[in-house]
Amino acid sequence: MMAQESTRLLLALETTCDETAAAVIDERLRVLGSVVASQEPLHAQFGGVVPEMASRAHVQRILPVIEQTLRKAQVKPSQLSAVAVAVMPGLAGSLLVGLAAAKALALALKVPLVGINHLFAHIYACRLAAGREVFPCVGYVVSGGHTCLYHCRSATEFELLGATVDDAAGEAFDKVASLLGLPFPGGPAISRVAQGGNPQAYRFPRPLLGEGLNFSFSGLKTAVRYAIGSPGQSRKQVCHQAEQLSPKQVADLAASFQQAVVDVLVDKAVAALEHTGLNRLCVGGGVAANRLFRSQLQQAVQQRGAELIIAPMELCTDNAVMGAIAWEYLRAGKTSSLDIDITPGVIR
Ligand code: KG4
Ligand code: ZN
Repeated sequence: MMAQESTRLLLALETTCDETAAAVIDERLRVLGSVVASQEPLHAQFGGVVPEMASRAHVQRILPVIEQTLRKAQVKPSQLSAVAVAVMPGLAGSLLVGLAAAKALALALKVPLVGINHLFAHIYACRLAAGREVFPCVGYVVSGGHTCLYHCRSATEFELLGATVDDAAGEAFDKVASLLGLPFPGGPAISRVAQGGNPQAYRFPRPLLGEGLNFSFSGLKTAVRYAIGSPGQSRKQVCHQAEQLSPKQVADLAASFQQAVVDVLVDKAVAALEHTGLNRLCVGGGVAANRLFRSQLQQAVQQRGAELIIAPMELCTDNAVMGAIAWEYLRAGKTSSLDIDITPGVIR
């Protein structure tokens, strides 16, 4: 799409984890250009994201990704009206690369800088997908790094209702997949293998089910480990045991684990709707790709007469388009000063 003379343009940057992304979005939330450079092949060999490698890869990619995005959008830097960047939460080294680039651009172009919360942006992806107002709603981020529920009163007022006290849901998928000898990222691999399995074959725990809005997945991961080997065995020994499992056993383990995670995820979403009295749920993050999760959630939300919005996959996984939330802050006059810092953790 060509840049329109009359609308202002925002450049959004995203470097919170292992994707280097940039996008140009106009004030009417139209996407003029978007680029996501994934580092997945780089980290796959280690079965998870290696923070130091991620920051170095961001350094190599950030300028080419910005240039490519501007080229796609057919926009010159001088046409930009604002620069947005995710400053929280995420890997410290990764966040710093995006923030340094955004500060330099904002300073050089003399335009406002907007530091945004990556998790709020994930929820805002639903606003973009819906093409209409979605607030107030319960916002739900289910990704590799985070599992968070928010009471979103408006596009700029989010209150944390609950979050994981240990592993994120996606992280649990990744760790269990690695235990079972399945490739990284583990979510898609587990759900693929689980198709041939019996979800009732193993009675795995549903941690914190019916107990408030926080999550805990690390015990569930350990339960899978103990289903394969014995408590005294090292991780290496358990992985070796897993290699001896039949395809049917692996499928049953994957299906039973997936069912346990989905049961908890759906239960908490319904509990958050109940707690807030709201009737709209907006879901973001990579785990939202999970078919079982989507269908079970749809059913549960529908049963309550509530509305479910899940952004399409390209907006669910990390991208810079969802940085369009910065327009809400710009409209509210909430910009950041050039000495803004990163905040790696989730603010409780
Ligand atoms: O949102 P995302 O792209 O990155 C983060 O910001 O974390 O999410 C990636 C996570 C990974 O943990 C991956 O295993 C998980 O999403 N994931 C899935 C599925 N597809 C991706 N988990 C379960 N089922 C899936 N189909
Ligand atoms: Zn994310």
